Amino acid sequence: METRPFGRTGERFSILSFGAQRIVDAHQCSEEEAIRMVNYALDHGIRYFDTARVYSDGQSEERVGKVAKHRRQEMWIATKTRGRTRAEAMVHLEESLVALQTDHVDEWRMHNIWNMEELDKLTAPGGALEAAVLAREQGKIRYISMSGHRNPQVQVEALRRFPFDSMLVALSALDHFILSFAEEFLPVANAQGIAVIGMKVMALAKLGPYYERALRYTLGLPISTTIVGMESMDQLKRNLAVAEDFTPLGDVEKLEFFKEIVHLATPEVMRWKTTDYFNPVEWEKR
Ligand SMILES: NC(=O)c1ccc[n+]([C@@H]2O[C@H](COP(=O)([O-])OP(=O)(O)OC[C@H]3O[C@@H](n4cnc5c(N)ncnc54)[C@H](OP(=O)(O)O)[C@@H]3O)[C@@H](O)[C@H]2O)c1
Repeated sequence: METRPFGRTGERFSILSFGAQRIVDAHQCSEEEAIRMVNYALDHGIRYFDTARVYSDGQSEERVGKVAKHRRQEMWIATKTRGRTRAEAMVHLEESLVALQTDHVDEWRMHNIWNMEELDKLTAPGGALEAAVLAREQGKIRYISMSGHRNPQVQVEALRRFPFDSMLVALSALDHFILSFAEEFLPVANAQGIAVIGMKVMALAKLGPYYERALRYTLGLPISTTIVGMESMDQLKRNLAVAEDFTPLGDVEKLEFFKEIVHLATPEVMRWKTTDYFNPVEWEKR
């Protein structure tokens, strides 16, 4: 599989990476299947695993950790905190390290910074960013990251305030149509050498019927890698097949694809672009 440099870190990752949010009971994925999938991914060139403290109350991290216990050296583990204060974030990090069965995470993300108020909390004195800087000094994390999927200008502003190492942002073909990270954020991040990881490739499964072109669209952007949320071995094998044989969509192919999917560019499908998506009940899903 093609590999690409990961920003300024000196690392390279395969273009397809593993979103581990859905390898949980709530998505009908047993622990046995989850462990089989993570091992299969590792055996087929995927080293990058994205999880978060909040995913199924730690079950996603625990399952990644059950493989990390044996194969940590091969893995790049990114996890997240949704704490906005230094104190909250530090507690989350300690919990993550236990669940992941490791003494450090490679990349620690400030989870889902969706508006300027959230960014202000994070960067204020006593905010979670201070926890990240401290944790890096202590060797508990290696790189500092952020995720966002709503308004690209929030992540542009974040880069003005702090030299993040990477950003995980929404880059599906549907994101092309509204508040586009591809248009507004990628040029800024690339000019600064920030590693960018794509997400929402399948638009929360709504692009599942178009998975091959959906993946080729995102992989064709100037990004380091993309995570896809996978919950079955079948999905993992299909996405691997596309990534191993990757060619970018041609101009005509891309236009045809946009014509086929533009009817899905609605608030009902693209819930991550709406403001009412960000309430406590929905948090678990992000
Ligand atoms: N703010 C954040 O930081 C944030 C937010 C959300 C997610 N994430 C991370 O990003 C990862 C990806 O999540 P996402 O929200 O971006 O979702 P996504 O990858 O756009 O969609 C994932 C869903 O697409 C479907 N799918 C995957 N491969 C497929 C294939 N080959 N064919 C057909 N359907 C396929 C599956 O749904 P069905 O089985 O239901 O069809 C799967 O659950 C997560 O695992 C998580 O690690 C981060």
